[in-house]
Formats: sequence, structure tokens, C-alpha cells
Amino acid sequence: MNQYKYLELEAILRKDIASNHFLPSGKLPSIRELCRTLGVSKATVMHALHRLEAEGLVFCRPKSGYFVTSNKRIDRPIQQVKTPAAPRAVTVPAILKDIMSRSAAFDMLPSDGVSDDSNHLITLNRHLGRALRSKPTQKAFYYNNLSGDIRLKEAILEHYQYRGLNQDPEKICITSGCQHSLFISLMATCESGDTIAVESPAFYGVLQIMEQLQLKIIEVASDPEDGINLEDLEEKIREWPIKACVVSPNFATPTGAFMPEKARIALINLAIEKGFCIIEDDIYGDLAFPPLVAEPLKKFDTHGQVILCSSFSKSLSRDLRIGWVLGGKWHEKITQLKLVTQLASSESIQEGLSTFLKEGHYRRYLSYQINLLKQQQSTLIHLLKKSWHNDIRYTHAQGGISLWVELDASIDTQQSYKKILEQGIIITPGSLFSASGQYKNFMRLSYLHPITDKRKAAIKTLFSILLGK
Ligand SMILES: Cc1ncc(COP(=O)(O)O)c(C=O)c1O
Repeated sequence: MNQYKYLELEAILRKDIASNHFLPSGKLPSIRELCRTLGVSKATVMHALHRLEAEGLVFCRPKSGYFVTSNKRIDRPIQQVKTPAAPRAVTVPAILKDIMSRSAAFDMLPSDGVSDDSNHLITLNRHLGRALRSKPTQKAFYYNNLSGDIRLKEAILEHYQYRGLNQDPEKICITSGCQHSLFISLMATCESGDTIAVESPAFYGVLQIMEQLQLKIIEVASDPEDGINLEDLEEKIREWPIKACVVSPNFATPTGAFMPEKARIALINLAIEKGFCIIEDDIYGDLAFPPLVAEPLKKFDTHGQVILCSSFSKSLSRDLRIGWVLGGKWHEKITQLKLVTQLASSESIQEGLSTFLKEGHYRRYLSYQINLLKQQQSTLIHLLKKSWHNDIRYTHAQGGISLWVELDASIDTQQSYKKILEQGIIITPGSLFSASGQYKNFMRLSYLHPITDKRKAAIKTLFSILLGK
């Protein structure tokens, strides 16, 4: 502790609060305990607690102590769903292709527009245009920097430092998006017929890759708030030889779950002990609602056991088709697979993006966008609460872009897909997020787009069809 001990204590508590360290009771250690474990005076502890209280992060209950102010106000939480005990092959329903072809994977309406403020895209286009114009024309027929442009690699890793991750630019490989990153990571670590543990519900893109690579899935129960259930994972590992485990510790889609720090460390220790690889999908990691800072799982990886996959698709633009992999032990193999599957990434896009990042535009835009997402999440929840509160349950994530909605067990969202589509509304049915036909009465709703009158009307129509009201 330095001379401003209260600031250090405040930082420790702030971090613990953000990582849900104090769940489920929310009670902070007593003042006496904090004094003893950290070797500071009572005045220092009180000073730090008062500052956190003034910010609304903690509150005092007379004679009981200090508690974390809950930012998880879920009135009727969704329960964890039991998953199948044995591995199985994956078959992805055909309607996924239909949803993707209507460009609506994260919207209810096909291309109903994004936020009015597109200044960041104008700036981004300026950077991309400048990079394109600066390339001598004769370079157009050369492939360069097979694992990616060093300036972009440095800019991405510089940005990760804000989230507590320090990595060597030699250990990152640029790809054409997070889906590509996940694909080559699974190719690098597994062979056809291998069993992969995947949190359930899972991102359908991973299920598609597994179907393509003929990998077997063992679905692992996942808490809609705290993510993958390690007890269930351990039980399954005891029974089945698992090659890799795919998880999204930061705002998993569709639930928005956020893994507590203790569970992250335990997961890595388990992977080291049992020798399986962790494939971390961190695509939503930049979209944490303050004061939460979403550290990547990779930050705790001392053995190169975690492969981090991500992209700018959710936080800036899907159109860039730029992603990356921090491949740990598998870096060389992943780089080779990038070469085989893509040869190289666009040099101009990488260069333009790197100057956009280095000049701070991305960070500026992120703070604006996160604020907007938070507002849009509130608006959507308000809308759901007002009209259907008694008929549905939903998650209330601390970041990301989606809500996981549970309806009455008698409702099948996939079966209603066509009827809803006839009204010009597209939904993402729950069954897309499982390989075992679970979550039939669930769906994912997104707050990525502004909740316009058109979307409000769509939600109303959607629920009247689903709930028959
Ligand atoms: C969790 C998750 N991972 C990966 C992807 C794929 O992202 P990209 O567009 O970068 O390929 C998506 C896209 O929806 C996603 O939701």
C-alpha cells in the first residue's frame, strides 16, 4: 500500500465488486477484517467505503455492515437448464440460414437502421480511404504480412491493456472475423470425432463450425448470470475425453452471462490439470457497462492454455471483416491455418483501422456506444416489464447486446417463426442455441439497435402472436 492507502483499498474493492466477487450475499468483509487483512487503519477503510458509497456502488445497513448495490435487478430470474449427459453430433436447424440471409441475426426487422450518430463510421471511412489511397497501385497484386499487419496487432494489444491483458504482438494472428477465428482455433486443437465442451445455451456459430468439422458436443449447464457451471463441466470431464471447451466469459450470447473472477481462475486450473484447451470468445468484452471492466479470461492464463478469439463486429462494424486470435500454445498452428483458409487480410483495411485505433477514435466511440446500449437495454426491459412482465422471464446483463427471454413452457418459438415472419418480424428462436433441442420456449432479443416506434410495434405484435393475446 502506498501513501494514498484508501485509494488502493478503493481500487481493490472496486475490482471485486465489478467481478461479482461478493455474490451471492453482496456483503463486503467487515471493517475489522479489512483492517486486518490489508494492514490498514480503520480511518483508511472508512474513507474508501465512504467514497464508494458516495458513488452508489455500496450501501451501509446499520449494524450489518456494507453491501454491494446490486446492478442485477432480475425480478424473476431464469433458471439454469439441465443438459444432456452424453456427447452427440451437431445438426444446425435450416432456419439459421434464413435468418442470416435476411441480415437480421441481431434485429427483429431486416435492416431497420442503426443509431443516428454515425460520425465514428465517417471517421473510420476517412482512415480506410486514406490507407487505400496511400498504397502504390503495383502493390495490389502482392500478399503481405500473412499473420497480419504489425501496426494493427500493436493497436489491438494496446487497447487490451485497458482491460488488463498484456500480450506480445508476435502472438496474435489477424483473421477475417471472430467466426473465422473460432473456426481455425477448433481446427488447430481438434480432429473429426473429438468431443468439445460448450456452454449451454451456446452461440449457434460455434455449433455450425462443429457440424462442419464433425466434432461432437457435450453441452455444459450454464447459469444465465454467472456463466458456465464448473461442477457440471468437471462431472462431464470425468466421463468423457474433452479436447477443448468453448466459453464466452464476458456477456455470452444469448444470456449475457458474466463469469465471476474466481470461476475464471478455476476454469483455467481445470484446463491445465486435465489438459484441454479453452477457446474464449471475447467478442462482447469491450461492451461492459461501467463501472464493470470485463477482463479477458486470457489475462489469467499463465500456461498458454487459452485461445482468445474476437473481432470488431459487435463493437464497431461487422463490415470490416477483421478479427484476431491470441493462440497461446497453438499460435503457430493457427497462423498456418489462417494462411490456408484466407492467405492474407486486406492491407489497407488493417492500416486504416490501426490509425483509427491509435488516434483514440475507437475508445471515444466505445464510451458513447456503451452509454447508448445501456439506455437501449433499459428501454427494452421497460417495454417488456410494462406489457408482459407476468408472462415472461428475461436476463439483465451488465454488458453486451442481448436479452435471453423465457416464455411459458407450452410455447415453441421456432414453430412460430414463419407466422411471425409473415408480419415482417424476424426472431432468433431459442432452439438455435442448443444441439439437443432445448430452449424451445426461449428467444434472444437484442438492444443493439435503437428501439424505434417500428421496433416497439414489432415487439407488441411478436408477443401477441407468441402469447396469443
Ligand atoms: C458470440 C459470437 N461470436 C462470434 C461471432 C462472429 O463474429 P464475426 O462477425 O466477427 O465473424 C458472433 C456473431 O454474431 C457472435 O455473436
